Amino acid sequence: MNTIITPWEVKGCVDYDKIVKDFGVSRIDETLLRRMKKITKKLHCFLRRNIFFAHRDLGFILDEYEKGNKFFLYTGRAPSGQVHLGHLIPWLFTKWLQDKFDVELWFQFPDEEKFLFKKDVTLEDTERYTNENMLDVIALGFNPKKTHFLIDTKHAGIMYKEAIKVAKLINFSVAKAAFGFTNEQNIGAIFYTSMQAVPAFLPSVLYKKKIPCLIPHAIDQDPHFRVTRDVIQKVGFSKPASIQCRFLPGLGGMHCDGKMSTAAGETTTIYVTDDAKTVKDKINKYAFSGGKDTTEEHRKYGGNPDVDVSYQWLTFFEEDDKKLQKIYHSYKSGALLSGELKAILIEKINAFLKEHQKKREEAKDKVDLFIYKPNK
Ligand code: TRP
Repeated sequence: MNTIITPWEVKGCVDYDKIVKDFGVSRIDETLLRRMKKITKKLHCFLRRNIFFAHRDLGFILDEYEKGNKFFLYTGRAPSGQVHLGHLIPWLFTKWLQDKFDVELWFQFPDEEKFLFKKDVTLEDTERYTNENMLDVIALGFNPKKTHFLIDTKHAGIMYKEAIKVAKLINFSVAKAAFGFTNEQNIGAIFYTSMQAVPAFLPSVLYKKKIPCLIPHAIDQDPHFRVTRDVIQKVGFSKPASIQCRFLPGLGGMHCDGKMSTAAGETTTIYVTDDAKTVKDKINKYAFSGGKDTTEEHRKYGGNPDVDVSYQWLTFFEEDDKKLQKIYHSYKSGALLSGELKAILIEKINAFLKEHQKKREEAKDKVDLFIYKPNK
């Protein structure tokens, strides 16, 4: 299968070394990790485990921070369905960054994006899911005083004027090359990237001073920011920096399954609103196992944690390095059976979701605190 990685589709085997080369991002190296650790004291497990693995200009962000010039964070979510566990990975990391660096976050809900890119998605759908998805973001505990939601169709009044400045500098052949558009692409979709560019400099416009921007995102979004970076200085702002994560693999397997996706359906995806029994059933039934066919063989030859989805998920959700290492070795040695490994994951995910679902309920009263008000 050919590998396809665009902001709208991830298919085939994801080779991260190749992505680094093709996209032109840089690996996060030891020096950067050491600098991050100096400021944050303890590195987030996503950094320790190379889940956030690449960046653009992270060094610049740290230089400025050390000089006392704080950056702001920018990330987003195109509403079109329920949030699944894979979506949470960049947001959990963004929350950590907000806490550690004590900075503002601008969170975009481009409610036109999936309307423009997906045939059957209506604006009623995206409006409903904007309301749903905002709850999931709030549930992660972002600081309401330092977090601003931008909803494209609602904030068009302040965003459109900035978007057209970007749009004027990007021609169709650049958009084609970056996103793989054909001549049949609708013109709204072609324009869209200029809307996703806006939050990378809107705070600088609103606060009337240049503020460095750091964008945590899953690697598939990079083409947007690559294009933005190429033109933004002509609009009068600095290039946004970015930090990129790998995908949480779908339940079905890691190697040739791209990322967890709603399109692939129930068998690969756990939604944040799934109840405990659904989570248990999905993992037991669908999580690809690196175990042997029989218990005897497994005890004798051991399992393969490197392809086992339950183990791989624990590398995202079990923060304790020692616990994780113990699981790795006992699975590999055959002492830990596949069913037992799945049980560990089920417990971990259900504990996480129980808390998330509670916070999600509480978030219903808080939405208004997060939506950006121009005169606040
Ligand atoms: N395009 C993203 C999506 O499909 C949404 C988004 C908007 C975003 N701005 C962003 C993602 C900034 C990461 C960073 O969900």
